[in-house]
Amino acid sequence: MRAPTDIIQQAADLRRQIAYHAWRYYVLDDPEISDAGYDRLFRELEALETAWPALVSSDSPTQRVGGGLANGFAPVTHALPMLSLNNAFTDADVSGFAQRVADALGSQQTLEWAVEPKFDGLAISLIYQNGKFLAAATRGDGATGEDVTANVRTIRAIPLQLSTDHPPSRLEVRGEVLMLKRDFQRLNDDQLKQGAKPFANPRNAAAGSLRQLSPAVTASRRLHFFAYGVGLCEGWEMPPTHSAILTQLAEWRLPVSDVRQVVQGVDGLLGYYYTIGKQRAHLPFEIDGVVYKLNNMALQAQVGYVARAPRFAIAHKFPAEEATTELLAIEVQVGRTGALTPVAVLEPVSVGGVTVSHATLHNEDEVRRKDVRIGDWVNVRRAGDVIPEIVSVVFSRRPPNAREFVMPTHCPVCGAVVIRLPDEAVARCTGGLHCSAQRKQALWHFASRRAMDIDGLGEKLVDQLVDQGLVEDPADLYRLTITQLTALDRMGEKSATNLVESIAASRHVPLERLVYALGIRHVGEQTARDLARHFGSLTGIMQADRDALLVVRDVGDVVADAIVQFFTDAHHRHVIEKLMDYGVESVSRSAVSVRQTPISGRSVVLTGTLAAMTRDDARDWIERLGGKVTGSVSRKTDLVIAGEAAGSKLEKAAELGITVWNEQEFMALINEQSGAH
Ligand code: IVH
Repeated sequence: MRAPTDIIQQAADLRRQIAYHAWRYYVLDDPEISDAGYDRLFRELEALETAWPALVSSDSPTQRVGGGLANGFAPVTHALPMLSLNNAFTDADVSGFAQRVADALGSQQTLEWAVEPKFDGLAISLIYQNGKFLAAATRGDGATGEDVTANVRTIRAIPLQLSTDHPPSRLEVRGEVLMLKRDFQRLNDDQLKQGAKPFANPRNAAAGSLRQLSPAVTASRRLHFFAYGVGLCEGWEMPPTHSAILTQLAEWRLPVSDVRQVVQGVDGLLGYYYTIGKQRAHLPFEIDGVVYKLNNMALQAQVGYVARAPRFAIAHKFPAEEATTELLAIEVQVGRTGALTPVAVLEPVSVGGVTVSHATLHNEDEVRRKDVRIGDWVNVRRAGDVIPEIVSVVFSRRPPNAREFVMPTHCPVCGAVVIRLPDEAVARCTGGLHCSAQRKQALWHFASRRAMDIDGLGEKLVDQLVDQGLVEDPADLYRLTITQLTALDRMGEKSATNLVESIAASRHVPLERLVYALGIRHVGEQTARDLARHFGSLTGIMQADRDALLVVRDVGDVVADAIVQFFTDAHHRHVIEKLMDYGVESVSRSAVSVRQTPISGRSVVLTGTLAAMTRDDARDWIERLGGKVTGSVSRKTDLVIAGEAAGSKLEKAAELGITVWNEQEFMALINEQSGAH
């Protein structure tokens, strides 16, 4: 039965709202409404569709997880072949490429390039018919791919309907399906918990997730997508440049990376390469290089293709991040919470330009699963600034005398018994703070940059302080004297004075940093921030019972129990009392931002790379100065802070006439305001 007009209207309206909020959430990473608000809209639509089944259409957000893949992955012939890119590895390769393009154009002028990340995922082609998502296919061999429509439909970042009243009659969007690093981490944690094999990297995880016969499984894997070009196109006059095409796709609410840019000449290309190389570890997704494309579409056509790759574009790859080496031994490290981590000692090897001599093996199960033995040849991987890890064993090179690893039954540092709870992957030293390894780790964490930020208190120094009995717990730091410190190895008068000063300066920190610094199990920075906001004081948090804690965002049973347990411990209470006695006084965020600053209550967007600090630090500062950080530039943005290689957000800001600060202006505000403390 056909639904009444007002019901049809209501459903269309709900779909529009849901699509809008999904875009804010999945594409811009800047939601406007709460998850609960979103769920409410979704349930309202579901209820309408249940009452009026004729309302259901394939582009309804309720239909993302639809029927299975009846005929597996049927072959699809691409209307235009999906090509690959040639690779450049060195600066000379890049100038050679640019020269060939210039020669092909017979041009002496500086060329304009659209530059973007080389996403490390899988190439996908999406077909939109009159603005409606119709089908998706993998690249396959370039000529024929596989129909993965049902699975791609579950990717929330991909709009089921383009946001325009005048869509092309047919449009093929090309791009990359990938898994964000954080979703990859979560997936692998889940895999481990379920005793399943973890994925080697986000690309494998994305590929495995896309090729599932059940779309419900794909949906649970949270894949992401970035568009990087257009294939077939009918009923739309394409803009004259590649960058403008991507901007148009973004306006239709297709996800397009904002790390892309337009640059001039070879210097521009290489500048982008090195800037992105530095940002790489901080990007939310994996990239294996950058891609340069001649920006002008007419010139692209003029330069043309060689074999199966365009001559007007090239991928400039980052150095390989995997290498093969010999595993000499497996040592066991004791962490802050007593967790014992097996660490591989390697014959030093260069991985992506950095010498690696140790790699983590995570835990005992991981050693078994990968079947790593002492004496094996192993593949080692490092990505950005994360700890290198063993990817796999080269079984064909296993020597006959390779030895299996056995987890010690006693802590290698303090000798206490090691236990492993039945539902835990890790074995733990039961020595608690009697174990000097745990004490050291706790101190080191306390002093770390994102906790109390005590400059100059590195690992070596912590070792000495603990080994010589000068410091037993974090509070002892505050009574260290210059005389005590100068007696230590490699500690001059000057560094001792600086250290005492930075310890003293750390006494006034925002509450969330102190909470994080305490090292409560399961309380990371975000939870610390939420707790600080909710309770406003350390005493408030200490007095909260389980029920009071469970009200805080993202605090579940495990976290609440860990917090209660931490503050019930007499030793912990004693240390906190000592800290207070020494004048450590945490200030809640609201107390800091009571004072008016030029950005109080303003909505601020960060873009590009800052030289002096990480993005997290910048975000921290903005929040401390009373500003609110949002992900994307809109009319509601008050200020954009642009570092190096700022991309489309900067263009957007200029378009909307929003104030833009460079890093110096931002630093000036920080200096002025922190001086005023
Ligand atoms: S353009 C005609 N842009 O790299 C060239 N490709 O080696 C079409 N890729 O199969 C590709 N990021 O899967 C282009 N920003 C980007 C890319 C990108 C990743 C992948 C894509 C392609 C492969 C080519």
